[in-house]
Amino acid sequence: MSRVRVHNFSVSLDGFATGEGQSLEAPFGHAGERLHQWFFGTRAFHAMRGEPGGGAGVDDALAGTWGDGIGAEIMGRNKFGPQRGPWEDHEWTGWWGTNPPFHTPVFVLTHHPRPPLEMEGGTTFHFVDATPEEALRQAREAAGGLDVRIGGGPSTVRAFLAADLVDHLHVVVVPIVLGRGERLWDGLEGIEDRFHIESVTTPGGVTHVTFTRP
Ligand SMILES: NC(=O)c1ccc[n+]([C@@H]2O[C@H](COP(=O)([O-])OP(=O)(O)OC[C@H]3O[C@@H](n4cnc5c(N)ncnc54)[C@H](OP(=O)(O)O)[C@@H]3O)[C@@H](O)[C@H]2O)c1
Repeated sequence: MSRVRVHNFSVSLDGFATGEGQSLEAPFGHAGERLHQWFFGTRAFHAMRGEPGGGAGVDDALAGTWGDGIGAEIMGRNKFGPQRGPWEDHEWTGWWGTNPPFHTPVFVLTHHPRPPLEMEGGTTFHFVDATPEEALRQAREAAGGLDVRIGGGPSTVRAFLAADLVDHLHVVVVPIVLGRGERLWDGLEGIEDRFHIESVTTPGGVTHVTFTRP
C-alpha cells in the first residue's frame, strides 16, 4: 500500500503552522515568512522554483525528500488560496503561478467544489468535498501506486492525523512564538504513542522532528 506523507511542515514553538489574518498579500497571515525562512535558503526550495543555487546542508537534505515517490497531493482549500465561501474569482488559480511545483494531481478539499484546473507541468487541481478517507481513496487512485502527500494547512494535516491516516510526518519546529493563528496539535493528545520519533537540530536553529509509523 502506498504511504501517506507530510513534509517540511513548519510550526512555531507554540505550535502554530500559520498566523492569523491570511490574505492574498499575506499567505501566512501575521506570521509573514518567518515559518519558512529555514527553507528558502535550501537547494530544494530553489529547485522547486526552477532556480539554481541554494545551500546543500542538513536542512536541504531533509527538505529535498518532499517530492520523492509522490504521485498526488491533498491540500485544504485555505492552502490553495485566501477565498472563503462560494468561489467568486475563478480566474485566480492558486498561489503557485501557471506552473505549480507539484507536478501531480492535487486534491483540494472544499465544501465548494468547482471544475478541475489543469495547469502547466502536470499539476491538475481537483476540488473535492469528501471525508479524509474518501479524498485519500481518490488521491491513491490518481497516484498510481506512488505515495500521497498531505500538503497542509494545519487543519487538514490535523484531520488526517486524527483519522490515523498518516504514515510519515516531518515537522520543522521553528524557534519563534506566533501567539495566534492555526495550531497543528489541537485534539491530538498522545499522538506520539503511534509513531517512532526522531529529531535533529540543524545549525540554522530549526528542529526537524519525524514521526514514522512503526
Ligand atoms: N506551516 C506550513 O508548513 C504550512 C504548510 C501548508 C500551508 N500552510 C498555511 O496554512 C494555512 C491554511 O491552513 P488552514 O488550517 O487554515 O486551512 P486548510 O487546511 O488549508 O483548509 C481548510 C479548509 O479546507 C476545506 N476542508 C477541509 N477539510 C474538508 C473536508 N473534509 N471536506 C470539505 N472541505 C474541507 C474547508 O474549506 P471550505 O469549507 O471553505 O471549503 C476548510 O475550512 C495557510 O495560511 C497556508 O499558507 C502552512
